[in-house]
Amino acid sequence: MNICVVGAGYVGLATSAGLSDWGNTVYCVDKDHWKISKLKKGKLTIFEPGLAELMSENIKANRLFFYHSLPRALKNAEIVFLAVQTPPKTNGEVDLSYLMAAAQEVAQALSKDAIIVNKSTAPPGTARKLQAIFDDTGYSCTVVVNPEFLREGSALEDVFHPDRVVIGAIEELASKKIAGLYQHLDTEILQTDWESAELIKYASNGFLAMKISYANALSRLCDKCGANIDMVTVGMGLDKRIGPDFLQAGLGYGGSCFPKDVSALVKWAEDVGYDFKLLKSVQEINATQIDFVLEGLVGTLGEDLAGKHLALLGLAFKPHTDDIRESPALKLAKLLDKKGCCLTGYDPHAMVNVAKVAPFIKLCPDIITTCKGVDAVLVLTDWSDFATLKLSELAEVVRNKVLIDARNLYNPSVVRRCGWTYWSVGRS
Ligand code: UGA
Repeated sequence: MNICVVGAGYVGLATSAGLSDWGNTVYCVDKDHWKISKLKKGKLTIFEPGLAELMSENIKANRLFFYHSLPRALKNAEIVFLAVQTPPKTNGEVDLSYLMAAAQEVAQALSKDAIIVNKSTAPPGTARKLQAIFDDTGYSCTVVVNPEFLREGSALEDVFHPDRVVIGAIEELASKKIAGLYQHLDTEILQTDWESAELIKYASNGFLAMKISYANALSRLCDKCGANIDMVTVGMGLDKRIGPDFLQAGLGYGGSCFPKDVSALVKWAEDVGYDFKLLKSVQEINATQIDFVLEGLVGTLGEDLAGKHLALLGLAFKPHTDDIRESPALKLAKLLDKKGCCLTGYDPHAMVNVAKVAPFIKLCPDIITTCKGVDAVLVLTDWSDFATLKLSELAEVVRNKVLIDARNLYNPSVVRRCGWTYWSVGRS
């Protein structure tokens, strides 16, 4: 198949790499000249393990091409994927302006019939709006909804081994054609109507966020009764109806997806006349989990944090990414800065991005330098580099052996036996 992918962001690139690797010819287009010139050389503008290598292989095999001219990218395309950003507005609603503008531009530049596939996350009703745009082109164009379920840091795993592929369409032929792109994958292909496909994406992210907030709420109860949250969630997860995933208590969820999609679902529900109180609680628990960790620090170092030197390990919103959007680690760092703390910080990949938005953190080249002379070490992102760090080496450079583990990476009794004052989430 000849496929045009509009948008060379995270989703557009992972989709382009997968589709081209499966033997399709993919023309990926983006307005950003700098980005496209880098991509043509197989260089990534984001950090995603394995993606640059896979792209390079497919560029060399003449299956993957990058353009900034939309008409050129569309010239041979039978299928057009829309993979542009749908950021949040200040009221939590989704800003569809980029998606609608991209659709208008594609509609104007088309020179033949095409199937238009929306991969951008957008609320129920969006496919209908997109179809109205393509109904005016004079060509036969039908819209299909094909939401993405990629996790940053493991996007290729999710492209090649998805739990499911969802295809929402009103025309059976178009639905079958898009299903055909994925039929070699060992996975369920669920064909639905437009609105169900659109809602599946939000419902899934909302549910996962709910699981995390549930575990975080329980972690606070564990703290009150002396239970261990890790044991509680393991015990829950052994029930097949619950499952073990996304029950890791910590500093709360962040990133460009969960906070945005939960807000969008709450707002969209409100617009259609439903007060989604359950998800509002999920948001509230997530926001206050940062305060819970702060209380743990205060309980250890005392109320007055002004002038305290703190080492922050992990600043990305999760491991294996350089993404700091809605990072709970940075939110906590801002609170600590307001309280007058002196902050040093280290993250294996996110430092360039952190430097742009958090000049109040003195960034250091490695863990040991970050921890030199500090009153406490705070582990804020669950990078494996931190889980395996040697506490005996840290003990030689810190001023106080105080460890605040906001991701429950260490065994409390082992750490305490080594003489550290240790606080973790819901394992008092
Ligand atoms: C999420 C979904 O997992 C993907 O399926 C979806 O496609 C994507 O959003 C999207 O909508 O594009 P992502 O945001 O990359 O993917 O990251 P996750 O791995 O889901 O983690 C989200 C946040 O939850 C992170 O801050 C992570 O630290 C936190 N988390 C995750 C926990 O606090 N506890 C857990 O048990 C799991």
